[in-house]
Amino acid sequence: MAIYLNNAATTWPKPEPVAKAMYDFLLSGGANLARGSASRRDLQTLDLVGDVRERLARFLGGHEKADPRYVTFALNVTEALNVIFKGFLRPGMKVVTTSMEHNAVIRPLRRLEAEGVELTILPCDKTGRLEPRLLQERLREPADLFVLSHASNLCGTVQDLESLAEVCRRHGVPLVVDAAQTAGLLPLDVASLDVAALCFTGHKGLLGPQGTGGIVWRPDFAQKCRPLVEGGTGSRSHEERQPEMLPDKFESGTPNLPGLAGLRAALVWLEEEGIEAVRLREERLGSRLLDGLKALPGVTLYGLAGMEGRLPVFALNLKSLDNGTLAGELAERWGIETRPGLHCAPLAHRTVGSFPEGALRLSPGCFNAEEEIDLCLEALKKLA
Ligand SMILES: Cc1ncc(COP(=O)(O)O)c(C=O)c1O
Repeated sequence: MAIYLNNAATTWPKPEPVAKAMYDFLLSGGANLARGSASRRDLQTLDLVGDVRERLARFLGGHEKADPRYVTFALNVTEALNVIFKGFLRPGMKVVTTSMEHNAVIRPLRRLEAEGVELTILPCDKTGRLEPRLLQERLREPADLFVLSHASNLCGTVQDLESLAEVCRRHGVPLVVDAAQTAGLLPLDVASLDVAALCFTGHKGLLGPQGTGGIVWRPDFAQKCRPLVEGGTGSRSHEERQPEMLPDKFESGTPNLPGLAGLRAALVWLEEEGIEAVRLREERLGSRLLDGLKALPGVTLYGLAGMEGRLPVFALNLKSLDNGTLAGELAERWGIETRPGLHCAPLAHRTVGSFPEGALRLSPGCFNAEEEIDLCLEALKKLA
């Protein structure tokens, strides 16, 4: 049996009800969304999708008293971010982001930069944190958008979202949050932080299946974005133009319904367990792992030194072996699954000092056992 320490890539295993909900949907549900004759199965699908929207609005803190219409589904956070960047930014506009972003942010912004959008990348410190003062100074000049990854997928550093959101609010600059690593793990309240759009992915901390994700919008910002994809919505079929109302505006084509069935089951599971309880479990495992990592001979650890202000995502190199070989040895000899290399985040590696060699990333999840952490530490000790 594998020891899975790659939960920052995707969480595994999922809670059991997730797979069962997907199976049941395909076996005995299976109707399309708003594209039938109002049969019992049609209504079940309608209820399912409405219920996931409501749960996400509650969970991530949507606007207008968590109005579920302002939850848009997408395939993943990458697609969600692209919807915003390509639907909002036009040549001549100014976008600001940080040096800890994933390529899901950097690549579309680099393309838009080549097309005339002005891009500023604010430097984070070696631990991966953005000093709010730097944003404050940049926003003395005009800007149209600030994009922030809530937590680093490389070394788990969590940004001071409250302070950064406050700076954006004071300057009237819309804030887009990439919550890929934090949704489901840290409490998020889009409405009180006045976030313009929070982008999430369903398959990481939310413990749902791949192919699910989306956006929680502030209504006025949703009105300012053009949809990336237009087409059939199952509504207003007499109109040849894309509806302006949400959720239809951004949701054309048949959605990932089995995925949404799985995501609903995951949200129910998380609500029953309590995200604080899940987070504490992961923090305990992270703390155990970090203590052991610090004691390894010849180890370089990147990011924050302690557990404060971070997720249990750790990046390291050993003097004895390059990180690719290390990941191979762990997998082959002990069945320990990790992720070496650059983690789709070259700028983040430059920021923490691990570019171009990359690092080995270890990311325990809520289903790991303490013995698995200890075994991994034993294996690393041998390899070090
Ligand atoms: C911070 C961050 N942003 C974006 C992504 C992309 O996520 P997805 O592949 O689900 O779109 C990831 C995934 O690793 C991430 O950690």
